[in-house]
Amino acid sequence: MGTSKTHIEFDVKSIRKDFPILKREVSGKPLIYFDNAATSQTPQQVIDVIVDYYSNYNANIHRGVHSLSQEATDKYEQARKKIQSHFNAKHVHEIIFTSGTTHGINLVANGFSSLLKKGDEIIVSALEHHSNIVPWQMLCERTGATLRVLPMNEDGELILSEFDNILNDNTKLVFVNHISNALGTINPIETIIEKAHKVGAAVLVDGAQSCPHIKPDLQKLDVDFYVCSAHKMCGPTGVGMLYGKQEWLEKLPPYQGGGEMIAEVSFEKTTYAGLPHKFEAGTPNICGGIAFGAAIDYMNSIGFENIAAYENELLGYATQKLLDIDGVKIYGTSKHKTSVISFNVGNIHPYDIGTLLDKMGIAVRTGHHCAQPIMDFYGIPGTIRASFMFYNTKEEIDNFISGLRKTIAMLS
Ligand code: ALA
Repeated sequence: MGTSKTHIEFDVKSIRKDFPILKREVSGKPLIYFDNAATSQTPQQVIDVIVDYYSNYNANIHRGVHSLSQEATDKYEQARKKIQSHFNAKHVHEIIFTSGTTHGINLVANGFSSLLKKGDEIIVSALEHHSNIVPWQMLCERTGATLRVLPMNEDGELILSEFDNILNDNTKLVFVNHISNALGTINPIETIIEKAHKVGAAVLVDGAQSCPHIKPDLQKLDVDFYVCSAHKMCGPTGVGMLYGKQEWLEKLPPYQGGGEMIAEVSFEKTTYAGLPHKFEAGTPNICGGIAFGAAIDYMNSIGFENIAAYENELLGYATQKLLDIDGVKIYGTSKHKTSVISFNVGNIHPYDIGTLLDKMGIAVRTGHHCAQPIMDFYGIPGTIRASFMFYNTKEEIDNFISGLRKTIAMLS
């Protein structure tokens, strides 16, 4: 990572021109957007696809013989194929459009209601976002299954040796994020999947935070379910995808009933459509799905290796600059991490720092980041989180550091 060759190839100035929002000011200062782990910004190439959809071929899909409906259907299904190819799923019908990561997780959790029983066990990692905790707690309440937790260490890494202790023949499901949204740790999902499969447990990987940084090969990973959101990777909000191995998706019952997910309906009996439609009741986010495909095209045009190398440079640069400031404590110090830095400064409340940074045009996230168990582990209410994407620059980091120094001086 961070080779000089990649560095030379990466033209951030020209990339930034693709993002109209990066030209705006906030509080009279140029925007410095470091809240990318919450949502990424949208390039003109994706905005154009959204405008084109509503300007030229807005229609409902899979329903009409008319030209607009055909056109929208073709584009939507082409986007599904793009997603299949990007994530290397074996079959296109293994890609289910969702409204986002949370929807995908709930769909799977709901499906397992009829497959689990008392005595079965589910493992979640200590590094999960609430969306990868609460649906499984609800599943345990419905089925009598038990939730167990794979613990973490001070560096914000999962303790894999503990995995061997809690994994057993009763383990039916394992849930882990690829990258922690709160700390940026990259989890060893390959090992987790391999170990879980040895006891016959299925694994769901939450890719919400990794999809903008790492292009996973789902077949090679041999993962059973993978979920992510388009808005984390330069696409629009309100759309995402669930990948499931065909055999698993066939076993799960539909999540929602409605139009599009049926084969035949009568008042006596309804039969369901095949994959992927069984899980896609109602009119979907058609434009969003098409724009998701465009976002994938855009990110691939830059190249995930280039993105990772450049973001790794930003991470190293910002970490060093932050550690030069007295009182800064970084949470999440694994060597395997992506461009997310969670930190606190002495006893200053994260919210106060975030509010003052905003007055300087600097957007960071503050709080528990929907990961309260991680904050409890460290005994803190929350952190300030700066998260970088490939369109951020070292100059922005310099301005952020000098803004942060000013806020500390004001609050100390
Ligand atoms: N999950 C998103 C975040 O980490 C919203 O900010």
